[in-house]
Amino acid sequence: MRVVVLGGTGQVGLALVPLLRQENEVVAPSRADLDLAQPGAQARVERLAPDLVVNAAAWTDVDAAERDEPGCLAVNAAGAGAVARACARLDAPLVHLSTDFVFSGELGRPYREDDATGPVNAYGRAKLAGEREVERAGATAFLLRTSWVYSLGRPSFVSRMIERARHAEELVAPDDQVGSPTSASALAEAIAALVRSLGPNPRARAARSAGLYHLAGRGAASRYELTCAIVEVLGARPGIRATRVRAAPATSFVTGAVRPRATALDCSRAERALGLLLPPWRSALDQVLAGARSSGHSGVA
Ligand SMILES: NC(=O)c1ccc[n+]([C@@H]2O[C@H](COP(=O)([O-])OP(=O)(O)OC[C@H]3O[C@@H](n4cnc5c(N)ncnc54)[C@H](OP(=O)(O)O)[C@@H]3O)[C@@H](O)[C@H]2O)c1
Repeated sequence: MRVVVLGGTGQVGLALVPLLRQENEVVAPSRADLDLAQPGAQARVERLAPDLVVNAAAWTDVDAAERDEPGCLAVNAAGAGAVARACARLDAPLVHLSTDFVFSGELGRPYREDDATGPVNAYGRAKLAGEREVERAGATAFLLRTSWVYSLGRPSFVSRMIERARHAEELVAPDDQVGSPTSASALAEAIAALVRSLGPNPRARAARSAGLYHLAGRGAASRYELTCAIVEVLGARPGIRATRVRAAPATSFVTGAVRPRATALDCSRAERALGLLLPPWRSALDQVLAGARSSGHSGVA
């Protein structure tokens, strides 16, 4: 079938496109070809005549979103709506990615899909508005909320910490921000499995299982624990200076946006209803860092 992937140059998109290409005709327009913030995005998606769309495109710079909330909304809310309306008109299932940052982080346990939302920053508000646009469009949509996505190819918390580990003996990370670290490639494999499970004529099967799901690395970690794991794995390698990690409160870091305190995701609905389960965050991290070791990717060696 013909699958359109938006955000094909992003962390998730880069991992997903080759997987989908194994079994599908994949069209992955660049931002220059199909800018979600521009009028006409809906018509452009419709002209591509997809059987299924994966929208992994988003404004993901959380700090910059505070400085330009309308710009962020144009991509993450209006753009998401344009894609979803195109899918509704074409009767093409949509896989749309959203975020743990739609939550306030104050619940005290991992979030389930029906827990109350309450974003604390502009990015979270825009992504939540995007979810509502997708729901309003009436498309058959898998709305997948994920969390703390990382890869070595594009900027992420993990890639930034690896870079710092090359220059500093001590890394500092917040121990009061908790999430579910998610490997972009593990998430891409799960999305590819979802697409495969829908078969060559995805409409009918998608209609039976579409909905809101949490899909993230299993378990939870603070940014401090995540950084400790990075240093533990990479610490002995040539080119890495970091030997220790110091915990500090999030308020001691100067950032443009506040982050929610604890937004680990309970992913049991996706396991029950879709048979999708990501690996535990720590084993996925080990695997990604092992890949970096053998390929020399990201300059970690
Ligand atoms: N990163 C995270 O920690 C995280 C956490 C939870 C949820 N998510 C969600 O997961 C999805 C994938 O995230 P990611 O980490 O893969 O993102 P990413 O690496 O930042 O990539 C974003 C992608 O969106 C494209 N894009 C940005 N603005 C666009 C526009 N106006 N029109 C068309 N394309 C545009 C980018 O194109 P360029 O290459 O041209 O910039 C890039 O391909 C997003 O929906 C994000 O909100 C991410």
